[in-house]
Amino acid sequence: MSAQTNHEGMTCLDCHTSNKENKEGKLLVKDSSQEVCAKCHKGETLDVDKIMVGEFH
Ligand code: HEC
Ligand code: HEC
Repeated sequence: MSAQTNHEGMTCLDCHTSNKENKEGKLLVKDSSQEVCAKCHKGETLDVDKIMVGEFH
């Protein structure tokens, strides 16, 4: 990983699948948003409901 300080270099597919829904019915690579973040942010508690509003979408 380089000197990246945010998600700008990431693609949608780092977090999303293109055609397979998880058990919440969302196109995410894991079964919950928290698990998606935990792929890279291990041990951090992130308030997905606040963070995901607007900034990445
Ligand atoms: C850092 C991880 C991440 C990246 C990168 C990301 N998303 Fe998401 N996206 C999420 C998460 C997590 C949710 C679900 C938020 C929630 O629980 O409501 C979401 C929700 C969505 C939704 C709402 C529909 C749904 O399935 O709930 C759309 C549409 C979406 N993303 C499109 C995109 C597109 C297009 C890109 C690329 C430009 C992108 N996302 C990049 C994590 C990401
Ligand atoms: C594919 C790996 C990856 C995933 C998945 C990921 N992140 Fe990140 N995230 C990074 C990297 C790399 C950085 C920049 C380095 C740092 O600050 O630790 C970052 C930085 C952040 C930051 C601080 C910088 C900013 O952009 O504001 C927040 C907040 C954040 N991520 C939230 C989330 C949330 C919420 C999710 C789940 C929806 C998520 N991340 C999923 C890799 C990821």
